[in-house]
Amino acid sequence: MKVMTIFGTRPEGIKMAPVVQALQLDESLESVCVNTGQHKEMLDQVLDLFELVPDYNLEIMKAGQTVEELTARVLAELSPIISREQPDLVLVHGDTTTTFIGAYAAFLQQIPVGHVEAGLRTNNIHSPFPEEMNRQMVGRLATYHFAATKKNKMNLILENVEACRITITGNTVIDALLQITEKPHDFPENLKQIFQNGKRTILMTTHRRENLEELQHVYRAVNRLVRENEDVQFVFPVHKNPIIRQKVLKEIEDTENVHVIEPLDYQDFVHVMKESHIVITDSGGIQEEAPGLGKPVLVARNTTERPEGVEAGTLKLVGTSEGKIYKECQELLSDEAAYQKMAAISNPFGTGDAAEQILNFIKEEFKVKAPSGVRV
Ligand code: UD1
Ligand code: UDP
Repeated sequence: MKVMTIFGTRPEGIKMAPVVQALQLDESLESVCVNTGQHKEMLDQVLDLFELVPDYNLEIMKAGQTVEELTARVLAELSPIISREQPDLVLVHGDTTTTFIGAYAAFLQQIPVGHVEAGLRTNNIHSPFPEEMNRQMVGRLATYHFAATKKNKMNLILENVEACRITITGNTVIDALLQITEKPHDFPENLKQIFQNGKRTILMTTHRRENLEELQHVYRAVNRLVRENEDVQFVFPVHKNPIIRQKVLKEIEDTENVHVIEPLDYQDFVHVMKESHIVITDSGGIQEEAPGLGKPVLVARNTTERPEGVEAGTLKLVGTSEGKIYKECQELLSDEAAYQKMAAISNPFGTGDAAEQILNFIKEEFKVKAPSGVRV
């Protein structure tokens, strides 16, 4: 049996790495790995860290290209590869353009699709944009759905996906997180210096397309928080998207105690998260990782597809208004009991064996036999 995995952005690389590793280690399967190259530097680092060597590297990224251009190019370049390789199953992850087009290209060639991280929903097609539509469309295109939680499974059932097509596995991000935290790690000099001053660190990331017009409000809240709390600093690794970079430069680049830095390598990022007091983010993956490290997360968005974290109490949806972000963050900084309440909650997103469960499902479903001479 031949399984093709397709990914193209940083979070897909991180979350597909444990799946690709599991497929490659299993001698009863043939694994073909395609990197669309939707991201470049931000993904290349992840490939190095997890020692992933894709069989195909498409060079799709162009600075500041529109989603329309991206969509057309991914479809045009991916289709001949699927046609040549003729996999028995295509696996995609999450909700990016690569995810949707990967699934659609396989569907057009009548190859079954397995969707990893299936069933996340806000049910608002404008938020996150275009990810909510991407994931809903992949939900229709896929034959197999690997859901992280019971709620994700229920979302799919409400959309008439047959229960027998859905497997609850936990999120593969927890597999990746555990793998990385187990490795010895030493910060590079710039990060060592940041953490030497004894201040409480707030880690922030922002990149959502639907938030781009609102970012100045988020950054103004940051300015106010550092002005009013001398013992607080921000670490802000800025996404490579040039639109975000322009906004950052205008609002907070020169603010004292705000460390505006390049995107961090995943290993450094995870350890910065460990050393941080609070996380403010509009990222999807970070909403799953930070609770795993006992860090309260203020989600700078108006919707989340991860209500499990909000219900558990480890995530708080704070939107993008300056006043609300300031107030919620100030409360966590000044009220130790409120802080501890959020920090003590256990991670609702998985236990670290998601990739193994996905592999087992595939082998059982496709009746994969061990190669002769190999004991299973
Ligand atoms: C994409 C996904 C989003 C995901 C995010 C993860 C879509 C439509 N969006 O958003 O779902 O949450 O990735 O980060 O699929 N760039 C670089 N180097 C890189 C990566 C990006 O320079 O390594 C710059 C390029 O100018 C690129 C721009 O960032 O054009 C935007 O990248 P793109 O993949 O289109 O969208 P993201 O905002 O990264
Ligand atoms: N991440 C990273 N370096 C950074 C910022 C984030 O390695 O400087 C990791 C983070 O730990 C998470 C993933 O990138 O696993 C999230 O990616 P992003 O926020 O870009 O996308 P999303 O999860 O929102 O799709």
